[in-house]
Amino acid sequence: MTYASGRHFLQIPGPTNVPDPVLRAMSAPTIDHRGPEFAELGRELLRDIKPVFGTTGPVIMYPATGTGAWEAALVNTLSPGDKVLCFETGHFATLWQEMAHGFGLEVDFVLGDWRHGASPEIVAEKLAADTAHEIKAVCVVHNETSTGVTSRVGDIRAAIDDADHPALLLVDTISSLGSIDYRHDEWKVDVTVAGSQKGLMLPPGMSFNAVSEKALAASKTARLPRTFWDWQPMLAANERGLFPYTPNTNLMYGLKEALRLLYEEGLPNVFARHARHAAATRAAVRGWGLEVLCLDEREHSGSLTAVLVPEGVDADKVRAVILDRFDMSLGAGLGKLAGKVFRIGHLGAFNDLTLAGTLAGVHMGLVLSGVRIDARGMDAALEVLQSD
Ligand SMILES: Cc1ncc(COP(=O)(O)O)c(C=O)c1O
Repeated sequence: MTYASGRHFLQIPGPTNVPDPVLRAMSAPTIDHRGPEFAELGRELLRDIKPVFGTTGPVIMYPATGTGAWEAALVNTLSPGDKVLCFETGHFATLWQEMAHGFGLEVDFVLGDWRHGASPEIVAEKLAADTAHEIKAVCVVHNETSTGVTSRVGDIRAAIDDADHPALLLVDTISSLGSIDYRHDEWKVDVTVAGSQKGLMLPPGMSFNAVSEKALAASKTARLPRTFWDWQPMLAANERGLFPYTPNTNLMYGLKEALRLLYEEGLPNVFARHARHAAATRAAVRGWGLEVLCLDEREHSGSLTAVLVPEGVDADKVRAVILDRFDMSLGAGLGKLAGKVFRIGHLGAFNDLTLAGTLAGVHMGLVLSGVRIDARGMDAALEVLQSD
């Protein structure tokens, strides 16, 4: 690899760049996680994390990655043989339904083209047809990190309400929380699954379940086996700011600082910043003469853009050139999309010039890889960035 000075550009759609104040906060000495100083930190975080989810209810924090929080959402609310409705929006939705299947749940997996979000119309149809109320949960990945498509959770909620169906709504916000507008309470989401390493600007290793009263009630009768993920001992310990096992203390120092940064900027401003950077990225991609994977204007992701490369081009080779020449990591095409797309992450601690640098690296990498692009793509992006 070419010698790299300066900072690496980590423009994958998570883990994201960790801001310096967060890194500094995490370097403080680890303290006794059963002592009074920790209990104060625990209480503060359990309270202050709520607005990011748009909830006033409990948020559970696990020392685990997002996959663990997926599992927690399922095992706390469902029983073997329960029917769940899932949508093939991409790689992560596919993995979550495989997990559900592995737990002995009966999964109705609505197939998709990886270019659209979960369909509110199909939710409405499936639930209206389920007059016996056999479907116990609808599982949706809010922002499909593999495709850059954001499902319309508010519309899905409306479809569930219109069908007057009691199914729980479980939503994965791993690559949307703290980047794309999200409203756990308003959309009556029952379990919101999240992770530390994307919009929250922390390293990987912490994940979350925001839970509704309906989900808590379901957890009293849910029979899937659980010990580590069990909400009840967690909520009991959380009353005192503590945890039933060792929490990731230093990530929690980082979380306190990351929340301070998000609230200082203001969540609506954070969401607007992400939407603007996403628009500038799409302007570049289309200006270059390339195609954005997402096909529905209402569903473009604020946190990442997946770019289709022309037929005959290997997207992984383009990424390799960009890494080697410009020290920038871009997201690979996952699953069915391997080699066909690369993904530009524009989430977390990110500003106009970081995006301009990122797009300049992509532009040069495409040219060096022999992909014919229109040089006006960069201008189109800069025009968006120059506007208010
Ligand atoms: C949407 C989504 N869901 C789930 C996961 C899995 O999370 P983790 O890798 O933290 O276990 C990811 C990881 O990138 C993701 O993007």
